[in-house]
Amino acid sequence: MKSIFHHLSRKRYSNFLILNVSASISFLLSSSPICANQIRLKGPTAENLLQESGQRFHPVDSSLGIVSSQERLASEAGALMLRKGGNAIDAAVATAFVLSVTLPQAGNLGGGGFLVFWHAPERKSYALNFREIAPQLAHRDLFLNADGTVSKNKEFFSLLSTGVPGSVAGLLKAQKRFGRLSRAEVMAPSIQLADAGFVVYPQLADSLKRAFSRLSQDPTARSLFYRQVDAPEGGIQWTPYQSGEKLRQPDLAKSLKLISLKGVSGFYEGTTANKIVALMKAQGGLIDHLDLSDFSAPWLEPVKGVFRGYTVISMPPPSSGGITLLQILKLIEPFDLEVLGLNSADSIHLLTESMNLAYRDRNHFLGDPDQIDIPIGKLLSSSYIDSLRDQLNLNSHTSAADLAGQAPMSSGVNTTHLSVADRDGSLVALTTTLNFAYGNGIAVPGAGFLLNNELADFTAKPGVPNAYGLVQGEQNAVAPGRRPLSSMTPTIVLNEAGDSWLATGSPGGSRIITTVLQVLLNRIVHGLNLATSVATPRIHSQLWPDSLQIEQGLSPDTVHLLRQRGHALRFTRSMGSANSVELKPNGGSFGVADPRRPEGAAISE
Ligand code: GLY
Repeated sequence: MKSIFHHLSRKRYSNFLILNVSASISFLLSSSPICANQIRLKGPTAENLLQESGQRFHPVDSSLGIVSSQERLASEAGALMLRKGGNAIDAAVATAFVLSVTLPQAGNLGGGGFLVFWHAPERKSYALNFREIAPQLAHRDLFLNADGTVSKNKEFFSLLSTGVPGSVAGLLKAQKRFGRLSRAEVMAPSIQLADAGFVVYPQLADSLKRAFSRLSQDPTARSLFYRQVDAPEGGIQWTPYQSGEKLRQPDLAKSLKLISLKGVSGFYEGTTANKIVALMKAQGGLIDHLDLSDFSAPWLEPVKGVFRGYTVISMPPPSSGGITLLQILKLIEPFDLEVLGLNSADSIHLLTESMNLAYRDRNHFLGDPDQIDIPIGKLLSSSYIDSLRDQLNLNSHTSAADLAGQAPMSSGVNTTHLSVADRDGSLVALTTTLNFAYGNGIAVPGAGFLLNNELADFTAKPGVPNAYGLVQGEQNAVAPGRRPLSSMTPTIVLNEAGDSWLATGSPGGSRIITTVLQVLLNRIVHGLNLATSVATPRIHSQLWPDSLQIEQGLSPDTVHLLRQRGHALRFTRSMGSANSVELKPNGGSFGVADPRRPEGAAISE
């Protein structure tokens, strides 16, 4: 087979499009049967439900609302709120607070996040920014050694890496404005689970075991997640909680109760604030009382774009998620994606080269809009996207050095995403994080929660890759009162009629954006149902490192063809956890917890 790109790439792009369709179709007719995933389907219609029910994976089906998160007890708490008459916001907030108890790797009081909300009664979308903020004493060279090199220890594992936590402010702000239940009601499940304890599940036991060497360096974190046992050679030793054992977190319960009782001031002032500031003073951190009391979580205008008739609503800066997602979608929109086929070499090549162009812009232009100018209008304009598309080489991979010229690496991450649909048709997409799993591994004494290392998302030094291998620029330099650029991409999609349809998002650091992209393409373009869209193998490319990451599940033939086009392939562990929901055409909802994280659950109202 000769690639259709091969025939056409010497022609101008506008010709490519026209020729592409006919060339592709004639190729398919002459030499290959048309596969289900190559037929254009229109996603959320009643007629498609039957076809979609014949696919390999199945979403949880609810006649009312649904909550999907990365941990079962958290999803159950959210579904309980829906049953009590709460709405999607009540459910999302209850779920997020429970995640701070039952998913300590990523759920948090000491971190931050973003929420995108479709409020059905108003038919209006909102974005809430509760990303952490650099304290006033932070500065550009915060993570540099005296010789100008980057100190990975300062950047990742010290209190210098901690931004002023935003989750409590954000969750309470959303709940106060839109929730139907009381703060006490939505916080009750988290308090109960922290106080009475919950049974440690296999994935948490495994995660705690792996995190031991890091968490055991902080006496407070060690006493939260490990217990003392007699050592065989005498004396005592620390051991992780095992699957099936009960983990109680009384200090966390106290912090949660203070929030429930007093609201925002129960965290940013008084007892909990005193504990945070005392730790900072004792161990060289920068956050003071004013940083805490000044924290704000503003409502922002979401970024929006139309892809194949569907309105994609996502997070604006200080997340790069929405803009980068929309840039990639707009870049690939005119191509005959259905005919190129799901996860074919042609398709993956196009996605990879488009991802690289968009990540180049991400790293160059984006940062905190409160402190820098970002040309959002230009970056999403048709003329600019056309100019990017002209740079696509459809025959072979363009190296990162040719595209941008700088150097690189990469690593894992832990963030968590939850999605909610309620019976009114409101949708929430909420992504929250401590940055690394368990943040910087330092917990607040007496308060029971871990602190983030979110400031590692800043550019420690221009040109030096961060923890995700992202090589960023001056726009995202550390500065007092600034929020670090994020990749979190909570996203809501409206169907072709403009009605609320789907909510998704994911953890995964820099891979979040491309995870969301592929869930949307699978659902909108390739006719896969929600569960199959989430389960299908994913790829990722971000310019630097100059490699194409692929999950298990691509055929050796595809791998071979990609190598022929010059891609350096990196076979990765699974990427992301895209817990997603969607509204059914005639009422009710579907939900899916990403099978990559088996502790997740979609629970119906
Ligand atoms: N900490 C990962 C992100 O916000 O992109």
